[in-house]
Amino acid sequence: MVLRLLAEVRSGGRQLAPALDRALRELEAREARAFVTDLAYGTLRHARLLEAALAPRLAAPEQLPDRVRLVLLAGAFERLVRGTPAHAAVHAWVEVVKRGPPKERRLAGLVNAVLRRVDPHDLPSPPGTASLPPWLFARFEAALGPAAAERAAAGMLRPEPLWLSASDPAAAAQRLRDEGAEVAEGPLPGSLRVRAPRPLATLAAYREGLVQPQNPASLAVVRACGDVAGRRVIDLCSGRGVKAVALAAAGADVTSVERDPSKLRAAAANAERLGVRLEQLAWDLRTPPPLAPAPLVLLDAPCSGTGTLRGHPEIALRLTPEAVERLRELQAQLLTSALACLAPGGRLVYAVCALTAEEGPEQVEALLAAHGALRPLAAELPLSPTVAAGPGRFVLPEEGLDGFYVAVLERSA
Ligand SMILES: C[S@@+](CC[C@H](N)C(=O)[O-])C[C@H]1O[C@@H](n2cnc3c(N)ncnc32)[C@H](O)[C@@H]1O
Repeated sequence: MVLRLLAEVRSGGRQLAPALDRALRELEAREARAFVTDLAYGTLRHARLLEAALAPRLAAPEQLPDRVRLVLLAGAFERLVRGTPAHAAVHAWVEVVKRGPPKERRLAGLVNAVLRRVDPHDLPSPPGTASLPPWLFARFEAALGPAAAERAAAGMLRPEPLWLSASDPAAAAQRLRDEGAEVAEGPLPGSLRVRAPRPLATLAAYREGLVQPQNPASLAVVRACGDVAGRRVIDLCSGRGVKAVALAAAGADVTSVERDPSKLRAAAANAERLGVRLEQLAWDLRTPPPLAPAPLVLLDAPCSGTGTLRGHPEIALRLTPEAVERLRELQAQLLTSALACLAPGGRLVYAVCALTAEEGPEQVEALLAAHGALRPLAAELPLSPTVAAGPGRFVLPEEGLDGFYVAVLERSA
């Protein structure tokens, strides 16, 4: 199952999270689900490091059949990152190769020898730097500085806990514990760190709308909007509405705008589960939407997702500098539409889950340079660590947080 997943993501162009969701439907036992999840995510997150560790022990890795290369990566992840002893990890992978087609079977001896000999000292260092394509790590360095860039990249190699947001965290925690979950407080109020006994969607706390899966960094973007109770908020690029429902739960009168109608439908169903109300508009925001200006506008723009490599390791396999440039151009267009939605005296919160300067501080600096009526405010980000950059701040993707850039701008009255 893991090899099929790795193949679908590495060569088949698929995203890991939905492919894994589908695969896990075949598994009942919690331990088996956790094992497959950790192995698939871990192998993809560490792929560059594992390839470098394996390279000196392989004469021509590029000539090996794809499946055998994936066996070596997954086996090396178990040996080098999880620290599984050779006697426990190697046999199972060799058996997988022996059950393959004849041209793979004859490589069983090679797989056995390589996986027995690989050594944690073979992993390149520092790990964060070596885990990313050099051009992408250079972008992190330019945005964050060298030390924070290494911490960010290394932080995204480690697994993510299940984070849930709750309007009533005490009641939600109690309900979750009643169902056998382990619950701890998250890094900001309203955020819980949870170890669930079963898939989240099967828990009553979820079905009854007490909790919403949300990374604390995403909740911090909502908090950067300030006190929204009773205020009209236009949530641009609302996607599946994770921030929209948090705004609505905090008492905002939310209008969500999104290009993709299927995401709007998913957001509406989720809002119903949570018992909150959203106005919705399907609109391509490359032109301003037909909405009366509001005192608060959130633009959570489409971006490279480079702050979410922990949960989306496939991004590092495929992203190109050209794609970042196209996103930068799109974000600039979306910011122009966001300004058209902003009432005089109002606030614009701009967020991207990206760790590049061009999508974050440079984007906002260009906007400020073009619009004298805007001034930056200090972004209240009740999380650490953060790094100041231009008019806003980066949240670093450590301790299970996603990486974000957030800036808060005010338009003169
Ligand atoms: C970062 S995601 C938004 C996540 C969402 N705010 C949340 O918290 O759940 C960016 C969204 O922008 C949408 N998008 C991309 N281009 C767009 C456009 N031209 N007009 C409107 N929405 C767009 C994408 O479909 C995607 O859902």
